[in-house]
Amino acid sequence: MALKIGVIGTGMIGVDHIRRLTQVLSGAEITAVTDIDRARAEAAAPKGAQVFDTPKELIGSDAVEAVVICSWGPAHEEQLLDCIAAGKPVFCEKPLVTSEAAAKRVIEAEVAFGRRLVQVGFMRRFDADYRRLKAVIDGGSLGAPLMYHSTHRNASVPEGLYTSDMPLNDTLVHDADISRWLLDDEVAAVEVRVPRRSTRGGELRDPTIVLLHMTSGAIVDVEISVNIAYGYDIRGEVSCEMGVAALPNRPATVISDRFGIRQAIPEDWRERFIEAYDQEFREWIVAAGQGTATGPSTWDGYAATLVGDAALRAVASGTRESIEMIEKPALYGPAPALAAE
Ligand SMILES: NC(=O)c1ccc[n+]([C@@H]2O[C@H](COP(=O)([O-])OP(=O)(O)OC[C@H]3O[C@@H](n4cnc5c(N)ncnc54)[C@H](O)[C@@H]3O)[C@@H](O)[C@H]2O)c1
Repeated sequence: MALKIGVIGTGMIGVDHIRRLTQVLSGAEITAVTDIDRARAEAAAPKGAQVFDTPKELIGSDAVEAVVICSWGPAHEEQLLDCIAAGKPVFCEKPLVTSEAAAKRVIEAEVAFGRRLVQVGFMRRFDADYRRLKAVIDGGSLGAPLMYHSTHRNASVPEGLYTSDMPLNDTLVHDADISRWLLDDEVAAVEVRVPRRSTRGGELRDPTIVLLHMTSGAIVDVEISVNIAYGYDIRGEVSCEMGVAALPNRPATVISDRFGIRQAIPEDWRERFIEAYDQEFREWIVAAGQGTATGPSTWDGYAATLVGDAALRAVASGTRESIEMIEKPALYGPAPALAAE
């Protein structure tokens, strides 16, 4: 039986996830959609899906067994809390929420419910290249990781949609999460350096260099450029005690002609991480079908939110800002075991 899914937010990534859930993957059907822009929801609704006026009505509907949240970050908290209150598994695009207090409220609600229901959209963890990189580090042949250089470049961001804080409170969460996951570590403190501002970004604070001081003493440096014009370019290199492991640039056809030798660069995240998003949902469908979640958790969303908050404090103070985490609830220990299909 296909899992009946309701989608909240039918903008760029909502539409892309609807495409993959209806045209690429099996085991799911979209039975409901909603968006504050009703016309957008109607245009995105697959045949037979009901268009709801509000997220609350969609979450409460018997036609919905699991929910995919693709609305803007500030709307996520209320929608997540409604899903948890209804006991419905929910995939929530990053960021989990946009403040530490909101993240704690979602943790409290899920812990009180007693079972993991939330998966956060940190798709890099499902990317085959990142998984191979992690396997090399975990294998131990290179020794302990000491530094990780993370590069996160976007061609552009939609004009007017984001404030100047966006690179730190929206983009950085991906690098924060992948650093925690790759190094199996937590972020203890954050520093931010702001170079000369790009003239292409308007009010945006762009680019930025962020230093993540990990609990082990390892240091991660992150370049965030969200208006770099040439394409979407994600790189990473882990320096260990006895060697270096690097994330390859995306393999692409090599063109040789009178202009030289070149490879295409992905335009945006949809192209670069297309297989990662597919795999992320493949695994989510299995877990949600069993009433739970196994991927990046509310705890991981909370940790990434703290890094964004600390980065904003670090911009204001010009110095190193520490992170204090609450004690990790047992619910966020090893992922729940799933029944064999
Ligand atoms: N994982 C990734 O790589 C990735 C990539 C892009 C976007 N995202 C995240 O996905 C989310 C959506 O991003 P997007 O690029 O699709 O933005 P978007 O602006 O294209 O779409 C968001 C949609 O949500 C709707 N919406 C907003 N608030 C709502 C609410 N309260 N109730 C119902 N609908 C609401 C808007 O009307 C819009 O149609 C954001 O949180 C963003 O950070 C993640």
